[in-house]
Amino acid sequence: MDGAANEDIRRRIRTIPDFPKPGIQFRDITTLLLDPEGLSLSVERMLEQVEGEIDLVAGIEARGFVFAPAIALALGAGVLLIRKDGKLPGATIAEDYALEYGSDRITIHADACAPGAKVLLVDDLIATGGTARAAVRLLRKAGATVEQAAFVIDLPDLGGAEALRSDGIRVSALVA
Ligand code: PRP
Ligand code: ADE
Repeated sequence: MDGAANEDIRRRIRTIPDFPKPGIQFRDITTLLLDPEGLSLSVERMLEQVEGEIDLVAGIEARGFVFAPAIALALGAGVLLIRKDGKLPGATIAEDYALEYGSDRITIHADACAPGAKVLLVDDLIATGGTARAAVRLLRKAGATVEQAAFVIDLPDLGGAEALRSDGIRVSALVA
């Protein structure tokens, strides 16, 4: 990703200081999504980063759900919903991950993917990488082959993308 690349996307993302707590610079994609060109550019550029065949696009609740279906439709893939705890009706498997304060849990249906299914992980943003790394652990536990993850935003100072790469994932992000 070079500095000037995707400036058309970067300028459509709003930064709100001190949300949800003091000191956090919140990257707000609602402004990107409100703009039809912002939405289509984001999906097109995320698609450009995808390599090889993909069976399922896994989106992380909630903001990953915006991008995963659009990418899946273009790839001819299905959508796998990675949900926060307590939302899925069938038998689930779960992974816990650390947040800045406390922890959280994500889940998928235990039968969500066939063994060896090629899964692309999608979310709006990677910060510490706690969420995405837990998602990769969860998908691999389910038998998926996960080699790529696509984000709109990387916050490189928080080291998440680097950590995810150390898990064997090819990470792409449109803006940093
Ligand atoms: C945000 C974002 C990612 C995650 C990234 O979701 O959409 O999923 O944080 O942070 P990390 O790399 O430090 O794990 P959030 O947990 O705020 O949930 P939301 O999408 O439901 O708002
Ligand atoms: N998730 C984790 N850190 C975030 C940030 N700075 N902005 C938006 N979403 C986030």
